[in-house]
Amino acid sequence: MRRYLIQTFGCQMNVHDSQRIEEALYAGGYEATDAPELADLIVFNTCSVREKADHKLRSAVGTFRELKQRKRDLVIAVAGCMAQQRGEALLRELDLVDVVIGPDNIPELMPLVKRVKAGGPPVARTVFDMEAPSFLTPQPRRDASHAAREVCAYVTVMKGCDERCTYCIVPYTRGAERYRASDEIVAEIRALCARGVREVTLLGQTVNSWHEPDQPDGESRFAALIERIARELPELARLRYTSPHPRHVTPALIAAHAQLPLLPAHVHLPVQSGSDRMLRFMLRRYKRQGFLDSARALQDARPGFTLSTDIIVGFPGETEADFADTLSLVREVGFVSVFGFKYSPRPHTPALRLGDSVPEEIKSERLARLFEVVDAQQSRHLQSLVGSTLQVLIEGRSKSDPRRVSGRSERHEIVHVAAPPQLDLAGQLLEVRVVEAYKRSLIAEPREPWAEAVSPRGRLRATHHLPLVPLR
Ligand code: 5AD
Ligand code: SF4
Repeated sequence: MRRYLIQTFGCQMNVHDSQRIEEALYAGGYEATDAPELADLIVFNTCSVREKADHKLRSAVGTFRELKQRKRDLVIAVAGCMAQQRGEALLRELDLVDVVIGPDNIPELMPLVKRVKAGGPPVARTVFDMEAPSFLTPQPRRDASHAAREVCAYVTVMKGCDERCTYCIVPYTRGAERYRASDEIVAEIRALCARGVREVTLLGQTVNSWHEPDQPDGESRFAALIERIARELPELARLRYTSPHPRHVTPALIAAHAQLPLLPAHVHLPVQSGSDRMLRFMLRRYKRQGFLDSARALQDARPGFTLSTDIIVGFPGETEADFADTLSLVREVGFVSVFGFKYSPRPHTPALRLGDSVPEEIKSERLARLFEVVDAQQSRHLQSLVGSTLQVLIEGRSKSDPRRVSGRSERHEIVHVAAPPQLDLAGQLLEVRVVEAYKRSLIAEPREPWAEAVSPRGRLRATHHLPLVPLR
């Protein structure tokens, strides 16, 4: 049996793609390993959104130099955004790399690996599937490394990006927008549910711009897609989505959050900056007030609704006053978590023309001030939940403490619950009372004794209800 080792960098789209890569390798007769010495194939699924990701890949590949010299037939492959961005050049820049494969070429990985193993030269394949876009479907696996029940899964609904946010390399590495038909999406979620998946996260670079591929007006029909999934798949416990673009937070999507318990009371909505001047230079196509209005509408749609976001500090020309606008927006919305990034100039992006005017120390200082505000908001939020009741979708035993099970609340907080070892609770929606708040997670206990919370077959009683009001 041949073995592969895969390292994944970057966003959820890459996590999803890595799962599809693993399935392709498994079908090709490979099994997973964590031990590099046992691997016949090492795959790096890469990110190129910030320059740091570049360095990470180079040093990660470099750690296998000695192994590759010892083990002549070891194949090293680079997939993902860096592969797409650099293509063949990557083969010249990184002499250890044998195969470069773009995000749309995953099905060709196995044949190319075979070719290289048979003595063929290093090879790069990075062609977008514009004519006939493919959305790879998760395949069931029976090998030991994937025996654990899968509770949460990703489903791609669109790929690529037609926005032109001036700092962002993604339109270059992932290509133009391509949409997947709702019939295909629903069929995929149905198959996942049949395998025991309880939570699905819809994926796309601007996921809420979704519409049918052949829809002439190109207007977002994302709320209608969600409503269809809720209607046709009552066995699904939760439906998340990432990442939405603020300009497609439509009234219909806000209404869906108000009416469908299937949607969690949380959204990750990237804002990038609180300054109108910066938003304009970033070409985000919304203003501070528009974002605040959408955030407020979502918060009003459902009691206890929370938001998280992405923020870039030190975009070219960002003044102290611009950054103060970002801090005040973070306070005004009350984000419970923020991914903060220092601006990093990227090849092929329009913002390159603007230079990189904010000095590194100021970027670091702004990031630290941002995290100070966010950490305080996060602590206050988690503390405020002590004593309250949450519904937790249990994902499995906690990795750090097997006496506990862990999962996420309806808002996405991480929740740990002490549970008897004989109970297999993965996939259960459990009603709990929060007893303690940590820095980034919660400790809770079941609201009822285990014997009552769990039916004789080990399944919890159904807690999911369908909406009463149909959506347009
Ligand atoms: N520099 C810093 N952060 C960036 N992001 C995207 N491009 C850049 C860049 N050039 C951030 C944005 C985006 C997240 C995925 O990465 O905040 O939402
Ligand atoms: Fe990048 Fe903007 Fe597209 Fe997001 S919406 S992937 S930030 S260009």
